[in-house]
Amino acid sequence: MTALRSFLFIPGDSEKKLGKADATGADALILDLEDSVAPSRKAAARELIPSFLKQRPRGTRKSQLWVRVNPLDTDMTLTDLAAIMAGGPDGLMLPKVNGPDCVRIVSHYLDAFEIAAGLPLGSTKILPVATETAPAPFTLGAYADAGLKRLYGLTWGAEDLSSAIRASTNLDPATGQWALTYKIVRSWMLLGAHAAGVEAVDTLYVDFRDPEGLRASCRAARAEGFSGRVAIHPAQVDIINESFAPSEEEIAFARRVVDAFAANPDAGTVGLDGKMLDIPHLKQAQGVLALAQAYHR
Ligand code: COA
Ligand code: MG
Repeated sequence: MTALRSFLFIPGDSEKKLGKADATGADALILDLEDSVAPSRKAAARELIPSFLKQRPRGTRKSQLWVRVNPLDTDMTLTDLAAIMAGGPDGLMLPKVNGPDCVRIVSHYLDAFEIAAGLPLGSTKILPVATETAPAPFTLGAYADAGLKRLYGLTWGAEDLSSAIRASTNLDPATGQWALTYKIVRSWMLLGAHAAGVEAVDTLYVDFRDPEGLRASCRAARAEGFSGRVAIHPAQVDIINESFAPSEEEIAFARRVVDAFAANPDAGTVGLDGKMLDIPHLKQAQGVLALAQAYHR
């Protein structure tokens, strides 16, 4: 499956925002039942989301439809699943996990709900927000051996983590960039995702009226090994989709790399523009061309 580039959050109790969902062009929407929905509005969201899903059955969807459920420590996860699973969401975002064991519990819940709803067993994916509690970052390496078949990828969050560790900010006052703790968990999440062979999804860019800052940040994230990103506003979607697809220059360079090896079929290493290329460069170039084809369908 080609990686999903943009995951756009939509508060699950907002009829108005849900009404805009089909036009956003996001690879995936995250219909939210968690923290963008006030406690007094959860029940309303548990009615709106399933009807939204049912009006867009699997196989007819413009964007994949994911749901962010409430975390296990709230006792609301099962209530959420009971409300939404008949609508056949493509995946669940699971916030505030302490590690792979939390994903395993929800995965077992999904086995039962899928059977009850007549959905193929294992067809609902899970994207845990894998850094939002203090213990969570210490488990990031454990996803690799956890055997979680539903695991789509890992993502991370800085806001809940800073609240969990009683920090008053998650930014470095000198640079305005992530403070060291958040850089560490972001990097460990990236490594943990690749160790597990799943996608690395970067966290949201909070300033939704800063398109150029978002673009630069997405380009940097892709260069580091992230395949997509969370969005909070429709205006962020196109920028994220563009930034996580190979650029024209990358595609042109990848073609030249592939051509250089094709012209020297017995060579394990060739020269291009005065630089040495070997097999990892060829594989990287083939990956770029495959992604370009998938996204420009
Ligand atoms: N999904 C769908 N539509 C959205 C949207 C979203 N995430 N965010 C904004 N819109 C709509 C607005 O309703 C508005 O519609 P209108 O033109 O008909 O009035 C339009 O896009 C422009 O919105 P704008 O005025 O620029 O923003 P806002 O002040 O209304 O909303 C936020 C700002 C941050 C509250 C809003 O973007 C939002 O709710 N984002 C998602 C937040 C969330 O789910 N967070 C959870 C994860 S951290
Ligand atoms: Mg949160």
